Amino acid sequence: MKALQTLTPYLRPYRAGILQGLVLVIVSNALNLAVPFFIKQGIDALDDPGEAATAPLRYAMLVVVVALLGGVARYGMRELLNGISRRVEYDLRNDFFRHLLRMDPGFFGSVQTGDIMSRATNDIQAVRMAAGPAYMYLVNTVVISILALSLMFWIDPRLTLLALIPMVLLPPVTVGFGKAIHSRFERIQDQFGILSTVVQENLAGARIVKAYTQEGAQVERFRSLSHNYLERNLELARVSGMFHPFLGLLGGLGMVIVLWIGGMSVMRGTLTVGDFIAFGLYLGMLVWPLIALGWVVNLFQRGAASMARLNRIFAAEPSITDPPHPTGPEVVSGEIELRNVSFRYPGTERWVLRNVSFHVPAGATLAIVGPTGSGKSTLVNLLVRMYDPTEGEVRLDGTALHRFPLERLRALIGIVPQDPFLFSDTIRENLALGFDEPNLEAREARVRHAARIAQLDTTVAELPAGYDTRLGERGINLSGGQKQRATLARALARDPRLLILDDALSAVDTHTEWEILHGLREVFEGRTSVIVSHRVKAVMDADLIVVLDAGEVAEQGTHTELLAGDGLYAALQHRQLLAEDLDAEDVLAPARNDL
Ligand SMILES: Nc1ncnc2c1ncn2[C@@H]1O[C@H](COP(=O)(O)OP(=O)(O)O)[C@@H](O)[C@H]1O
Ligand SMILES: [Mg+2]
Repeated sequence: MKALQTLTPYLRPYRAGILQGLVLVIVSNALNLAVPFFIKQGIDALDDPGEAATAPLRYAMLVVVVALLGGVARYGMRELLNGISRRVEYDLRNDFFRHLLRMDPGFFGSVQTGDIMSRATNDIQAVRMAAGPAYMYLVNTVVISILALSLMFWIDPRLTLLALIPMVLLPPVTVGFGKAIHSRFERIQDQFGILSTVVQENLAGARIVKAYTQEGAQVERFRSLSHNYLERNLELARVSGMFHPFLGLLGGLGMVIVLWIGGMSVMRGTLTVGDFIAFGLYLGMLVWPLIALGWVVNLFQRGAASMARLNRIFAAEPSITDPPHPTGPEVVSGEIELRNVSFRYPGTERWVLRNVSFHVPAGATLAIVGPTGSGKSTLVNLLVRMYDPTEGEVRLDGTALHRFPLERLRALIGIVPQDPFLFSDTIRENLALGFDEPNLEAREARVRHAARIAQLDTTVAELPAGYDTRLGERGINLSGGQKQRATLARALARDPRLLILDDALSAVDTHTEWEILHGLREVFEGRTSVIVSHRVKAVMDADLIVVLDAGEVAEQGTHTELLAGDGLYAALQHRQLLAEDLDAEDVLAPARNDL
């Protein structure tokens, strides 16, 4: 239950509305309880010869008016309180999403997408029920109990106490069932997260599932997890299914006592017929909120369980954050320096980079080469501060990266990742992702210019709707090479101080890669550029070439220097030239491009 305290700040802005809603709960209950009172008056008036002729109609009218007013008040209370719970849900969901986007890659490596999705949907839904309907019905129950009990006491104190005897069982029953419901509900939500992950992975990897004929295996895996989900739901259904009838039984036992003892009192003449009927009606009014109480406890327990699940995500803090006292030069020229940088991924033991040091003057082109898995992409991750180095420092213009304001640092960088990712939006919006340009014409010019340099313009021209073509889901899917060019255009459109290409052209052949990079020479001028490739041919023009091997700098220098050094780089060059010759003769082409 403590978890629900998180909701306090979300409810605070709606204090006034909540108060009005709760007042309406009281008003509507008071009006509803007046109904049996008027019925009683009407019945008792029948014994009075002077009243008998007119009284029934008069009281019947009163009953109608009071019931109508009660209905209006109930409508108002639902409107207000349910509406507020929807707004709380809205605020909570937005905060949840904002929090997720603050997190760093380390976090996303440790959680599963499906699990996050189920928290963002199911759990927020359960919390909403606790933030509105639950306390509405709780207050409803409390108010109706107090009012009905007072009226019953007023009619016959002894009968009231007798009718309440079964209720002593209420607190232990409610607490016991509440605990059981809470733990079962949390187990259900956990399992739903796992189920969502399987669905999400199967949709994202639909092609692999088919290519490896895994449909049957995946269906079986899903069925088994789904069955587990079903079992957990049935466990909950068994418990909450027993809860409601149990409460109904307590109310029913009270009713038996009233009919028996109260009936005898009427026959003895110590209780009027009107009082007897009103008493029965009041007790009947108590039974329903009692059952609702079971439901309310259920809602609070589920809400608390779900809020606890959300809080576990809210509690996670990104390790890549803005420095408390950001610094850095006004204008960044783009000088990069790594000083004894060593790195291991959070939560792992293995050093992926060890003692990496190099210096790139502003405006120069740095190339990083090395076999697959040698740490090139990891090095790029450090350059754009997706992670902080475990040891050592990455400096930009002499200032350590972690001392720059994060947003400003990122704004300086245009990166083309190894795995191209585009949003399911138009090509234009994808290319214009990284810059603000309110002037539509200027914006369009920037997009087209970037597409031209990345050699994407001819591809776009062939698409049905040109730059308005929607990519991804239900749109057009680009080929691997086209996607890489699109992500390159996106980075170029940003006109960044620091341009980073992380094996960005691996999906095109060696010659095309060289051609595109050659065409980019002008773009590289005037900004610091980092080209990561596993191909020597792509990097030979660079001002500095750093050769990585198993996370360490094997050698560094210019193309000529490295060839003269006759080390790893020279060996790579030799092998790749050989492979290219074989390529030209069309022998086993793709495999030979790799190291
Ligand atoms: N998120 C990660 N968590 C743990 N290890 C990782 C992660 N990403 C990459 N690695 C490991 O770091 C090493 C270097 O990977 P990477 O930098 O991607 O190499 P390259 O880009 O040179 O092919 C590899 O051994 C890889 O298994
Ligand atoms: Mg890589």
